[in-house]
Amino acid sequence: MHYKSHTCGELRLEHVGQEVTLAGWVHRRRDHGGVIFVDLRDRFGITQVVFNPAHLSAEMFALAESLRNEYVIQVIGEVVKRPEGMANPKLATGEIELLARKLVVLNPSKTPPFVLNDDTQELDEALRLRYRYLDLRRERMTRNLVIRHRFVKFIRDYLDARGFLEVETPILFKSTPEGAREYLVPSRLYPGRFYALPQSPQQLKQLLMVAGVERYFQIARCFRDEDQRADRQPEFTQLDMEMSFVDQNDVLEVVEGLLTAFTEQFVALHGKRLMFKPFPRLSYEEVMERFGRDKPDLRFGMELFDVSEAMRGTSFVPFQAAHVKGLVAPGCAHFTRKQTDELTEFAKRNGARGLIVLWHDAEGYRASGAGAKLSDAEKQAIMRLSGSKPGDLVLLAADDDRMKLNEALGELRHELGQRLKLGDPDVLAFAWIVDFPMFSYDETEKRWVANHHLFTAPRDEDLEFLETDPARVKGKQYDLVCNGYEVAGGSIRIHRRDVQERVMRLLGLSMEEAYQKFGHMLEAFEYGAPPHGGIAPGIDRLTMLYASAPNLREVIAFPKNQQAADTMLGIPSPVSEKQLQELHIRIVTEEAAEKIAQ
Ligand code: AMO
Repeated sequence: MHYKSHTCGELRLEHVGQEVTLAGWVHRRRDHGGVIFVDLRDRFGITQVVFNPAHLSAEMFALAESLRNEYVIQVIGEVVKRPEGMANPKLATGEIELLARKLVVLNPSKTPPFVLNDDTQELDEALRLRYRYLDLRRERMTRNLVIRHRFVKFIRDYLDARGFLEVETPILFKSTPEGAREYLVPSRLYPGRFYALPQSPQQLKQLLMVAGVERYFQIARCFRDEDQRADRQPEFTQLDMEMSFVDQNDVLEVVEGLLTAFTEQFVALHGKRLMFKPFPRLSYEEVMERFGRDKPDLRFGMELFDVSEAMRGTSFVPFQAAHVKGLVAPGCAHFTRKQTDELTEFAKRNGARGLIVLWHDAEGYRASGAGAKLSDAEKQAIMRLSGSKPGDLVLLAADDDRMKLNEALGELRHELGQRLKLGDPDVLAFAWIVDFPMFSYDETEKRWVANHHLFTAPRDEDLEFLETDPARVKGKQYDLVCNGYEVAGGSIRIHRRDVQERVMRLLGLSMEEAYQKFGHMLEAFEYGAPPHGGIAPGIDRLTMLYASAPNLREVIAFPKNQQAADTMLGIPSPVSEKQLQELHIRIVTEEAAEKIAQ
């Protein structure tokens, strides 16, 4: 016996008169004057089923009366056209209904702990995650699973057509103490030794280039033991890619081509538009100056303006710093003092010394507090340079540290953009950020650290400054950003042993240490490593943007919560004493650990 002849999303007028069998869940049940209507749901859609006592045995009708939400049922009946005026244009199957002849209850259901048939209701996320298998039955969640599937399928087809090979790399990997904290896996066979879960397949994909694979990709699971945020998960998925005999441009073009093609296909289904075609390429320096953030939301303007020159020699003490910049919050002159105080607090939390606020009204600038002390000439200069208009709010800050100032104002711009809903939710503003500085000086550790990973190549024109002026060395490194998120990152790699050694020397890594950590890489590079580079777009973050979801958990079937736990599975969970013994592990309580440490 077949459980169903059609899906619940399939029947149309052309099926009228046919006898069909449907099976699925009771989405909703309504009783109308002795007739029972059931919306029957499966993954493919919803079909209205009518249980009319005139067409059913008394026994069957009684069974229909016993139906509750989420019962699993099978219905045999005739497809009929809905009566005049009763069609539902919102439903793909809305022109027909199924007149039931036979009903089988395949499985009853307890009452679900939350409503599954109304996506407009706000639900408690903790409850949703605890019963994720029910949550995923909801239309919006099913839709997100479908979007993710379509995206990954598109990627595979697109890259396959361009000569890429999908290669799997191991999950039991090696601990390499750079970057984020790792998840460790104890070894039973080698007491005291560990595998580590990969933070990304970075090293292995480079080894695949040495192996001659030339064009590699993988839908790769990555693991990072980081603090959780809306756009971070401890395990997440990358479209990991690496190519040989390429320069930066080649890598960017493949990814840009892929995302442009997918977005344009996607438009037809979900109405998203690309803001830029081609994607603009902005240097790190430029975005920090204009937007104060290396992942700017480019759907709106509100760029930072600079009044440092105009404030030279000012008697206004807060603006006697080397750099004075600001931004215009459009149409925000109605903000109360309380609201601007709150913005000031926000800016301070993000590193600003304070905020000077000017209200632009019909008479010009009005200021309360410190800002009132600005001279008229200074206010005029600010008005000219900021381009503010009556009705706007002008926010300014000053600092001797330009980067710190940019960053504080950048976070403020981002926050205001979100609060004022300046970004069109149907627009995707992809942009490349390039020319990142390769190194920064760690003041506390008194040494140079790599901003990306150790294998990122310096720009050819900057090679000569590697030893003399590391701060001015830019990397062949790129990020893709979209709507305020970093959605991909990558670089062209160092393939020559001599350059790699110079970079390691700069970072204070001895050859011995380097061999201990990256021996497999350094050794491989001596056997004819081709020039190569790659990138890794985050599948979760991109799907989140395509699905207009507020966080990654909405587009991952079984995500961890913000405490890195899964309450449905109850993990992390304790294990038996026997398992621990086999792994040569002893659990020490915090007090015992403290004693050991002493
Ligand atoms: P990177 O560390 O920049 O680069 O990561 C690439 C992309 O992966 C996504 N991502 C995350 N998504 C969800 N949760 C997280 N915790 C998380 N961390 C990162 C982001 C990010 O842009 N091996 C290099 C790539 C390369 O050089 O080729 C790498 O992993 O979208």
